[in-house]
Amino acid sequence: MSAPKVKFNNGLEIPAIGLGTWQSKLGEVASAVEYAIKEAGYRHIDCAWVYGNEKEVGEGIRASGVPRSDIFITSKLWGTYHTRVEECLDETLANLGTDYLDLYLIHWPVPLNPKGNHAVFPTLPDEYTNRLITVPDGKRDVAREWDLKDTWKQMEAVLKKGKVKSIGVSNFSEVKLEEILPTAEIIPAVNQLELHVYNPQHKLISYLKSKGVIPQAYSPLGSTNSPLLTDETVVQVATRHALQPADILLGYLLAKGIVVLPKSVTPPRVASNYTGSIAALEKLDASDIKTLDGLAAGGKQKRFITPPWPVDLGFENWPKLP
Ligand SMILES: NC(=O)c1ccc[n+]([C@@H]2O[C@H](COP(=O)([O-])OP(=O)(O)OC[C@H]3O[C@@H](n4cnc5c(N)ncnc54)[C@H](OP(=O)(O)O)[C@@H]3O)[C@@H](O)[C@H]2O)c1
Repeated sequence: MSAPKVKFNNGLEIPAIGLGTWQSKLGEVASAVEYAIKEAGYRHIDCAWVYGNEKEVGEGIRASGVPRSDIFITSKLWGTYHTRVEECLDETLANLGTDYLDLYLIHWPVPLNPKGNHAVFPTLPDEYTNRLITVPDGKRDVAREWDLKDTWKQMEAVLKKGKVKSIGVSNFSEVKLEEILPTAEIIPAVNQLELHVYNPQHKLISYLKSKGVIPQAYSPLGSTNSPLLTDETVVQVATRHALQPADILLGYLLAKGIVVLPKSVTPPRVASNYTGSIAALEKLDASDIKTLDGLAAGGKQKRFITPPWPVDLGFENWPKLP
């Protein structure tokens, strides 16, 4: 059984099920990746420079024995590298042990000060004490003078050099996309977003469709300790189709043409997320989709991934920070 594929606006294709690797610990991630490819059928791995585990992900890919050319690899540019796209990409390529990526994304539309008090999460001086603080308190040192259009130009340049086959964005609202689209030579292939039954972002998905940008779902299961897996409606639909709640959560997104990126380091889950989501895609009918489409609007709207970016950057449904 192999995952369906989704076609990009540049004609290239992506397997619609990819293995997530965020929070996959060192000592666990290589074997999870190897298992996913060798035993469970995955041909798509979702990585990021900031996850700090790309070296082991690369080891897992090589240990699978499946040729690099048969595997779709995505990685992401971190905020402190918006001014130095190729540098971050080169680090990722070296870590993964490959000479190209299938897809490279701007991780967040939040350029961070490359010369701040921390190489990954720079923060502003505390406004009261003027001490440098390093705790996540909503005062991340954002490089506000940097223009996202220039990050995108550098993304286009690494594609033209042949280091990546497709480029895209992640966590971009319609407003942020409109900042880069008017001057873009290359339309983003994807926008990777928090997408699941409690955060379906229907309006943004329609907008992406109108622009030819494929949505990818991160945290499709609701991330760590997810309440989605025990949601009454999800469980009912799963029981009716003799499937697991996770299968329904993933199959629902696949049915909407959304690429899913479930993370697991637990072999039986890695396997069932793949086969179960394909089974759910086949079984879910229009009324199931309508029911699941309405969960968030019915009072369950919730985001799980809310890094402490300044609130004025305009992320939707963001919690208020102190
Ligand atoms: N672009 C971005 O800003 C961004 C942000 C967040 C995530 N992502 C990407 O999206 C991927 C997925 O998101 P995520 O890791 O936040 O969350 P997720 O895939 O929604 O959920 C992962 C959690 O669910 C558990 N799990 C997996 N399969 C399960 C199953 N069948 N039954 C019960 N529990 C299950 C995993 O545990 P075990 O591992 O212990 O099995 C883990 O705790 C990430 O790994 C990353 O690649 C991107």
